[in-house]
Amino acid sequence: MSDTVLSQFTQAVKEEKKSTGRKFKVGIIGTGWIAEAHIESYLQMDDVEIVAAADLIPGKAEKFMKDYGVEGVHFYPSHKEMLDNEELDAVSVCTYNMTHAECTIYALKKGVNVLLEKPMCVTTEEAVEIMKAEKESGKLLSIGFQPRGDENMKMIKKIVESGVLGKIYYIQTGGGRRRGVPNSTFIEQKTAGIGAMGDIGCYSLDMVLNAIGYPKPLTVSGYTSAFFGNNPKYNNPADAARFDVEDFAAAFVRLEGGIILDFRIAWAMHPDTPGDTIIFGTEGALRIPSTECWNGSTGGPMKIYHDVAGERVETIIPEIKPDKNDKGLFYKKVRSFLDAIAEGGEAPVPSKEILYNQAIIDHIVKSSKLGKEIEVVIPEI
Ligand SMILES: NC(=O)c1ccc[n+]([C@@H]2O[C@H](COP(=O)([O-])OP(=O)(O)OC[C@H]3O[C@@H](n4cnc5c(N)ncnc54)[C@H](O)[C@@H]3O)[C@@H](O)[C@H]2O)c1
Repeated sequence: MSDTVLSQFTQAVKEEKKSTGRKFKVGIIGTGWIAEAHIESYLQMDDVEIVAAADLIPGKAEKFMKDYGVEGVHFYPSHKEMLDNEELDAVSVCTYNMTHAECTIYALKKGVNVLLEKPMCVTTEEAVEIMKAEKESGKLLSIGFQPRGDENMKMIKKIVESGVLGKIYYIQTGGGRRRGVPNSTFIEQKTAGIGAMGDIGCYSLDMVLNAIGYPKPLTVSGYTSAFFGNNPKYNNPADAARFDVEDFAAAFVRLEGGIILDFRIAWAMHPDTPGDTIIFGTEGALRIPSTECWNGSTGGPMKIYHDVAGERVETIIPEIKPDKNDKGLFYKKVRSFLDAIAEGGEAPVPSKEILYNQAIIDHIVKSSKLGKEIEVVIPEI
């Protein structure tokens, strides 16, 4: 891996900083489930003032703020009215996937820094448009992959970068749940655009791609299916009737640098797991018990398989537990975003990395529709 590739991806998830004395004027776009994690983090910070909230559903943002006891907030019926009428330093885009791009682009064009929930969006083209707006605005955009702040996830990257595995040539990753199809807005094209890949698959991809420095994807042979979410035998009939995204996806991806990525993710399946994550290198392999990778945990101690003094040995990497003062991954995600704005630093989770994550997902969808391997095409930014 070249230095330039590595330097692009310097992790900037930092420890909590002392208050700078100024308050960030923050707005929340979309006051659904994940917005709770954002506001619970913001409310612990002395340098944040929640000034505005928007939701398409009438009364939802008002109820949300009332439940949290936050007063003096201006409410709006969509991101547009909010951004047209407020002077904000930052917004959390907590909408469903299908409106990630429009909300983020509008905010950046208004000169507002954005913490955008994962997945970045739905298509490669949307990701590119987001990045164009980011570039033109000069504002900070960070994508909400909170597992980046997890010490075990950081350890995976440290192990790869230490060279103990040698040159990485093959990775299998993914995971999922035996039965875990969500409901809400996650299961419809019109709101989510993508299913299991956007919900949990993007985390598995980020876990390994971040560790190896996010090489560019070159080709994808992808497969998606839905045999559980839309089946009243496995899902409640009302949800099964509206389910129209994938509940399983698999892909064989060629990455720059001669690395093969073998990926599979399931919201539902008959086995308990489609297998651990394993990173194969010329000097060793790392096994990550990661069926529950979506929440940024490793599901047990990781193991390095390698030869020492001519003997085949296994080195167990103890799990790192958060200490008692740890405020959690969501807090770190929000804090590192605000600190990067204050310091003029790089986004903790930059779009230039997640572009490749999104492109893989999008090309899995496209390849599956075509029934063949396709080249990854990413328009110029
Ligand atoms: N980081 C995590 O751990 C995590 C966990 C869950 C969900 N998410 C992500 O968060 C996003 C939201 O998930 P959720 O479960 O909160 O969904 P949700 O459906 O509960 O909430 C989304 C809200 O956004 C509103 N909305 C949509 N477009 C809008 C617009 N243009 N302006 C204003 N409001 C708008 C909707 O009305 C809805 O109330 C998804 O992209 C999901 O992938 C992340």
